[in-house]
Amino acid sequence: MSKILIRAMVLPMTGPDVFYPQGEITIVDDRILSVGERGSAPSGFVPDRILDLPNDVLMPGLINTHTHAAMTLLRSYADDLPLMPWLNEKVWPFEEKLTDEDIYWGTALALCEMIRSGTTTMLDMYASMDQVAEAVLKAGTRAVLSRGLIGNGPNGEQAFQESIDLVERYHGAGKGRVKIMFGPHAPYTCSGEYLQKVKAEADRLSVGIHIHVAETRDEINIIQEKFGKTPVQWLDELGLFGGHVVAAHCVHLTPEDMEILARKHVCVAHNAESNMKLNSGTAPIIELQGKGVIVGLGTDGASSNNNLDLFGEMRSAAFQQKLRVSSTALPAYEVLKMATVGGAQTLGLEDVGILAPGFKADLITLDMDQPHFYPRFSIPSHLVYSAHAGDVRTVMVDGIFLMEERKILTMDVKKVCQEAETRAKRISTELSC
Ligand code: NI
Repeated sequence: MSKILIRAMVLPMTGPDVFYPQGEITIVDDRILSVGERGSAPSGFVPDRILDLPNDVLMPGLINTHTHAAMTLLRSYADDLPLMPWLNEKVWPFEEKLTDEDIYWGTALALCEMIRSGTTTMLDMYASMDQVAEAVLKAGTRAVLSRGLIGNGPNGEQAFQESIDLVERYHGAGKGRVKIMFGPHAPYTCSGEYLQKVKAEADRLSVGIHIHVAETRDEINIIQEKFGKTPVQWLDELGLFGGHVVAAHCVHLTPEDMEILARKHVCVAHNAESNMKLNSGTAPIIELQGKGVIVGLGTDGASSNNNLDLFGEMRSAAFQQKLRVSSTALPAYEVLKMATVGGAQTLGLEDVGILAPGFKADLITLDMDQPHFYPRFSIPSHLVYSAHAGDVRTVMVDGIFLMEERKILTMDVKKVCQEAETRAKRISTELSC
């Protein structure tokens, strides 16, 4: 049994007024035993290890609710292009060349970056998901994984079967750190019949669904032309909603679409930076939250961001809604909730996202003894408007340290970077021949 005591400024994300400037947290094995002021540890608690970080803020690990981790291999390969030539001439030909091993190393690169930037959980959608699961198990993070399903593509049936196999092999792996969902790519890449088949199988296996919805104007036009409906209305009519569904993007929504998402308890993964970079639009986050829709934050893949830093994503999400609505929209604490407890709710994870007794010990600390964190009027403001990836000092998942003093303990970062560089360059060379 491992028993750890950490002393720090503790922001447990259990309420806007809950903050312990001189706090401490105790951890037994993979779970939190107590959270509170210094000296609040249960009497008789004898830690094996004490970590004194009085100038650090300790908070829940961040949760990335939409990404394609292995796309780190495409980072800086093709930027600043119009959407369709970018996809047709750059992204898709590159992805066709990816081997299972490439996807392992691309995911490993993403996980190193996530750990460095305080992200402890991701929802991923990609191919070769066995490799992705193995990378997650090695890195020690938490993840919900979905095999991307292009129903209209040549591999639609094979990928469907791979999804079923993935559930059997990895749902609950790593002592529950890995969970699986079905990942039908989008309403315009899967037929209605295919989506209904996916939904039936997801229900049979008791897993959720992760899908891109209403991301671009083009998608709205395609679905409107084909079915005379919005993508949200179309998916609702097919019966896709009703269980656990994570809808990524939701940029272009009608008031009726928002009512449907709220009524069917669909959770939204908001990707402000990807939506800006690809000129997709600005999602109506304030209106969605106003209707009671749960919203988490995502980075999307590294080719449309280009980093996986959720601190940057928090700032962009806040600024975007302020620009769109008003300066009072999305205050700092609300954005922090989206990256923590909101992310956990989006992914259907009940025991992460806040620091409270009985919850999983998924936590991070940030070094606040730096010029950009003085003076200390508001810690939530600092975390959203001033913090960045490099401020993260400590990362723990399931009670195990993945990073201490900014050094990742579970992965050989140098090797991961070298593998990613070599593999990405091999593909670009093949494509330029
Ligand atoms: Ni995406």
